[in-house]
Amino acid sequence: MTISDKPMNEENPAPPARLTLRRPDDWHVHLRDGAILASVVNYTARQFARAIVMPNLNPPVTTVAAAKGYRDRILAAVEPGLAFEPLMTCYLTDTIDAGEIERGFADGVFTACKLYPAHATTNSDHGVTDIQKIHRVLDVMQRIGMPLLIHGEVTDRHVDIFDREAVFIDRILAKLITDFPALKVVFEHITTADAVTFVEACGPNLAATITPHHLRINRNAMFEGGIRPHHYCLPVAKRESHRLALRRAATSGSPKFFLGTDSAPHSITQKESACGCAGIFNAPFAIESYAMTFEEEGVLHRLEGFASEHGPAFYGLAPNSDKIILERWPVNVPAKLVEASEDFIPFHAGETLPWRFLGLARS
Ligand code: NCD
Ligand code: ZN
Repeated sequence: MTISDKPMNEENPAPPARLTLRRPDDWHVHLRDGAILASVVNYTARQFARAIVMPNLNPPVTTVAAAKGYRDRILAAVEPGLAFEPLMTCYLTDTIDAGEIERGFADGVFTACKLYPAHATTNSDHGVTDIQKIHRVLDVMQRIGMPLLIHGEVTDRHVDIFDREAVFIDRILAKLITDFPALKVVFEHITTADAVTFVEACGPNLAATITPHHLRINRNAMFEGGIRPHHYCLPVAKRESHRLALRRAATSGSPKFFLGTDSAPHSITQKESACGCAGIFNAPFAIESYAMTFEEEGVLHRLEGFASEHGPAFYGLAPNSDKIILERWPVNVPAKLVEASEDFIPFHAGETLPWRFLGLARS
């Protein structure tokens, strides 16, 4: 990674500061399907070389054939000239067939499996009701080296929504890690200091992704002067001390933390409703948002590890060899974006960000 930051002077204005880094990957994204897919996928594909694609479609992606079909639709929607590889995931259900998962992994169709506790989030109704029910599947995954990606929240309605991640660690995750010590597990979109501490204390088979928005907003953002549905996502943003712990983890240089945007587009109508959907649409300015955070923490030189190196290392894949360029130049995030004739509010709507994405570096 190179950071060129020549001081400007009036007679001879130096070129603006540039950041050249290995092309990043997004280790957790919702690309949706149909017209919305065709509209949103290129925000991801222009920045990221690969992305772990969430399987929470309706119906969910539970078979090799469904994942192949979805992968084809994604690739057909990518603009010509953009090199982008969707990495497909299998949605775990109580009755999922371990043989199907093993076949999909061996064929290179499934990269990982996704565990949604039933009813934890959008399209998770078919998720797992009891972890015991998938022990056989987890055995197989452990044996073949297939990563398990976890939405880590309990769904017990008696547990306060802000505590559901911490309680998940105590009730489910700690035991799962002990029962399956060789299973590679990604604790996804972590939102608490509890998760940071837990991940740091466990061995190298447990890692975590961190979203751009959990690095920037705390739970106040949902209630600033009124209800703010565009800052509502799951797991829900927590109090400020947790946000600070996430920023420390993401920018620490530890290989256990890496980029996963959890970009989850829902139209304005779906968000601004008596029962608005959870999800923040951050794909359009994702790397710009992370760059701003790393710069604020004074560790821009660690962005490349977090965005482009720790993820592939955990998944056992080679890091990308191409590079992207960011330039220190104000970029205005539109107040809204029109995708497939519907309005969407992107994360950072109406803000000006300090780094703009210029594209791939010429090799
Ligand atoms: C995601 C979605 O909309 O699919 N929503 C979200 O708030 N992150 C589902 C998820 O990852 O929880
Ligand atoms: Zn998600």
